[in-house]
Amino acid sequence: MTALTQLSQAIKDAPRWHQEDQFQNPSEIKIIPLKNEALGAEVWGLDARKAQSGETIYKLKQALAENLILIFKNQILDDAQYLAFASYFGPIFRPTADNPVLGYQAETGTPPDVVLVSNGVDQGDYTGHSELSPHADHQWTPQPSFSSLLYAIQLPHDGGQTTWYNTIKAYDALDDETKRQIDKLQLITYNPFVRAQTNKGWNSNKTEMPLYRFKDQPIIGHAYAHPLVRTHPETGLKALWLNTRTEVELVNYDDQNGSQLIAQLREHILKPEFQYEHNWQVGDIVFWDNQVTLHSRKAFPSEQKRLLKRISLAGGRPY
Ligand code: OGA
Ligand code: MN
Repeated sequence: MTALTQLSQAIKDAPRWHQEDQFQNPSEIKIIPLKNEALGAEVWGLDARKAQSGETIYKLKQALAENLILIFKNQILDDAQYLAFASYFGPIFRPTADNPVLGYQAETGTPPDVVLVSNGVDQGDYTGHSELSPHADHQWTPQPSFSSLLYAIQLPHDGGQTTWYNTIKAYDALDDETKRQIDKLQLITYNPFVRAQTNKGWNSNKTEMPLYRFKDQPIIGHAYAHPLVRTHPETGLKALWLNTRTEVELVNYDDQNGSQLIAQLREHILKPEFQYEHNWQVGDIVFWDNQVTLHSRKAFPSEQKRLLKRISLAGGRPY
């Protein structure tokens, strides 16, 4: 027989609902929306190592669709337990090698199922300690991940907060004229990792990353057009799906007008009323919807160690 992958083994070994001492009673779980924040809910009393009931997973899926990010408190998991828990919510995102993403390995061109996000040399130091500008994960791929989870293992004393942006609220707050103007537009988001192969890395020198591609400039990597205004699959709500720092292009649009429109929309998305800044605690797992949010990270001192583990879940073609 062939050897099992880490993921197959994780699901094979995971506790099952009939095991008396290893399932979680749904009544122990509390989902509490954050007060006075643009998005987010905390989940208390859930032990992600345990088998979860259908009722619980259904409730969490609904809570994610409503609150856009869920913050699971006080988790202690190994990678197998983390994979088994995340898999309740959908298949693991496994991109092909033709579109490099965070954590891709030189030999395979693809990332592992659990991606280390840290500043430790040779321990997943893909993003170092610098600021990360607001983005949705994998937006430049044909089928971007529907969600990602980050699990905090080790944290710096200063900085390193992650901020999420509610892009449904951002869309909603636009005036009707602008909504009409953008509702049918298609946007290409160019792959920052392909550009990183040609210069020094996608966060190492932001001035080298153009914010908009003019038609006389070369195309970097494969280009997939997706709607600028995205519809959430469960709620049907519309969101402004535009990251704020990488190179993009509106399809069949004038260069000057397009770059101006994108700059205006980007300024709009960054308004404080659409944001929630998360101050991490060790043991937090934040589970967010990449389809209708952006996230960014504050810089932190390079000598302070920060280690999180990320799992992304597969999504369909955006519409
Ligand atoms: C990511 C990411 C933010 C952070 O892993 O996708 O954007 O806070 N990380 O490290
Ligand atoms: Mn990210």
